[in-house]
Amino acid sequence: MQIEEKKEFKPLIVAFCCNWCSYAGADLAGSSRLAYPADVKIIRVPCSCRVNPMFILKAFERGADGVILCGCHPGDCHYSTGNYYTRRRMTLLFSMLDYIGVERERTRVEWVSAAEGARFSKVMNDFVAKIYELGENVKVGDLRCKQ
Ligand code: FES
Repeated sequence: MQIEEKKEFKPLIVAFCCNWCSYAGADLAGSSRLAYPADVKIIRVPCSCRVNPMFILKAFERGADGVILCGCHPGDCHYSTGNYYTRRRMTLLFSMLDYIGVERERTRVEWVSAAEGARFSKVMNDFVAKIYELGENVKVGDLRCKQ
């Protein structure tokens, strides 16, 4: 009799956070002891507009199950208009993801200020719960790396 090993799904979630608001929000969540899942790997960027949509596709290709982009609230960007560019680019990326068949819910854009540690924690918990619901991302896997 062959025993089939069943692996527990552990999602890999990439969170791009702008330095001036969202990263500080994550910091506040940590120092306020507000929990968010360890599946979230934060990448600090100077501004949300630094994130080229190709970074998100690349993250999916490298095995991410979900990618979230967090920035300052519209009108509050440290560089004045950076997050307006982000909003437009991400709208285009969402339609592209629809086109290639990746569930739209695997990517999200959220505005989190430096004072919103509780919001950061809530957003991350919601997002991770959604990714657990969706399961593993198999659409844009780099098949060359798999056996
Ligand atoms: Fe935060 Fe631009 S500095 S979105």
